[in-house]
Amino acid sequence: MCGIVGYVGDREAGEVLVKGLKRLEYRGYDSAGVAIMNGRMSIQKGKGKVVNLEKGIFANGLKGHIGIGHTRWATHGEPNDVNSHPHMSQSGNIAVVHNGIIENYTSLKKKLIERGRTFSSQTDTEIIAQLLEEIYTTSKDVTFEQAIQLTLKQIVGTYGLAIVNIEFPDKIFIARKGSPLLLGVGENEMFIASDASPIVEYTNKVVYLDDGEMAVVDKYSYEVKTIDDIALTKEVHELAISIDAIEKAGYPHFMLKEIFEQPRSIADCMRGRVNVKENTIQLGGIADVMEELVNAKRIVIAACGTSWHSGLVGEYLFEHLAKTPVEVEYASEFRYRDPLIGEGDVMLVISQSGETADTLAALREAKKRGAKVLGICNVVGSTISRETDAGVFTHAGPEIGVASTKAFTAQVVVLTMMALATGMKKGTISKKEAARYIKELSLIPDKVDQILKECDENIKKMASLFTYAPNFLYLGRSYNFPVALEGALKLKEISYIHAEGYPAAEMKHGPIALIDEMMPVVVIAATDHTNDKMISNIEEVRARKGRIISIMNSENSDVKDLSEFSISIPSTVDCFSPLLTVIPLQLLSYYIAVNRGCNVDQPRNLAKSVTVE
Ligand code: AGP
Repeated sequence: MCGIVGYVGDREAGEVLVKGLKRLEYRGYDSAGVAIMNGRMSIQKGKGKVVNLEKGIFANGLKGHIGIGHTRWATHGEPNDVNSHPHMSQSGNIAVVHNGIIENYTSLKKKLIERGRTFSSQTDTEIIAQLLEEIYTTSKDVTFEQAIQLTLKQIVGTYGLAIVNIEFPDKIFIARKGSPLLLGVGENEMFIASDASPIVEYTNKVVYLDDGEMAVVDKYSYEVKTIDDIALTKEVHELAISIDAIEKAGYPHFMLKEIFEQPRSIADCMRGRVNVKENTIQLGGIADVMEELVNAKRIVIAACGTSWHSGLVGEYLFEHLAKTPVEVEYASEFRYRDPLIGEGDVMLVISQSGETADTLAALREAKKRGAKVLGICNVVGSTISRETDAGVFTHAGPEIGVASTKAFTAQVVVLTMMALATGMKKGTISKKEAARYIKELSLIPDKVDQILKECDENIKKMASLFTYAPNFLYLGRSYNFPVALEGALKLKEISYIHAEGYPAAEMKHGPIALIDEMMPVVVIAATDHTNDKMISNIEEVRARKGRIISIMNSENSDVKDLSEFSISIPSTVDCFSPLLTVIPLQLLSYYIAVNRGCNVDQPRNLAKSVTVE
């Protein structure tokens, strides 16, 4: 998944583009480049991070007030100078930056080569520039816009595109299908980006392009149309995020900032929705489909990665609180399995970015088969949030760190509110129980704050003892089995240590063979109804000299006595425990990764949102 920016106005385009690309580096950062027009087309691009690009632009004195830029997460062609964007047409007159995948690029490239075109890269993107130039220069009475439309109609796949042509020195051409693209509307200047972060410091007015749409942009105006040349009038939205929400706010990494933001992000997620005084839960985004949710014969949850883990917590929540059968699917499996889903089913898709290709495809598959599809997303205006029938935003604020933290807890809060609201309507929880749950839910932000204040130092010290452990095991039961998976994923993706999460009882069916004095075993023993069983599991690990790190409720001395290290957290009702037990695991993975010198916010091989298959 890549990041795209564009600018036209009176500022130095190079500065605006570089600053914007730095804000998008979390989307992909193996190479970067810009094309700037100033009477001629100037290109600066190469392997490496945006800071290298910035040096090149300065060293080569690239000046101009219009340009496009790109930061890459390679899908076709290794990360190197020649495969970095922008890609040029053969004449050098047209430059293209692209986010997405062209699935038929091999056949298109073959035909273009047969017709005499020469290519310089192994990317799929380059065929857009070459095919566009061929159509534009060989077709009679075809405007450049129409040539773009004709080009896009030959493409199978996804794109977020920005194109410049030296023949039109004051215009940028953009188009989108399957990869996000926004237009920021300024005063005599326009901004283009893959998301709001490069735009918000200049303007809060944005236009979201939808699939199958393109626009022609100059410093004063923009014209949106479909690729069938039908003019459109698009709504101008006001952005709700601020620039400081995007900055690190003094923390060494976005991930740590986002871990410590959780008391607020959880409170923001409940704001205006959970009413303790009236014992109500109001979820405006799904008010119109509440009947379908209450009467659903089952709920199918589809997601990827951390969002799949929150979906697993959702399964326990809906089945416990609303007595609705739930199945949780990897979106990537669901989409290709000829799934049995249809009328009467409700699908819940969960996605922080709202752009994950597999989750979007699962959504479309379920809709095609007649299911009602609801979304839980963090990014307003994201594709998934705009294609679901209804949904609930997590309101966690921008999550920049690639490893998801505050989005996970916010997703679990939304699932909790949905399950409670459904159970209250179905009568599967009494008014008295509902009041107890709602009261306890309102206390969670303070309990998370308490954990962050009381446990952070301890966890930081303990992490230094396990920095070079080659493996980790995470064990949990019931609501905390998904938390064991999430804790393991956090450690894997930012410290590169191999870690596995397991249902604690599953150990004796094989994995217990892994345990010896070299194996740290994180045991999540913070739910009342499984406590005795967890103690037996801890004994089993101890008998094999495993090094036990337990996450436990403060009053649970049995667990403490059996553990080499124990992290005490406040207690809560079992079904809310994931919101608390995950916090120490986020901190543990963060400190171990920092000790190992890993790039915590931009781990190797990863991107914040996987908008390709
Ligand atoms: C989580 O830390 C990872 N970054 C990754 O697993 C992520 O959760 C997954 O790619 C899904 O992303 P989404 O929530 O934006 O759809």
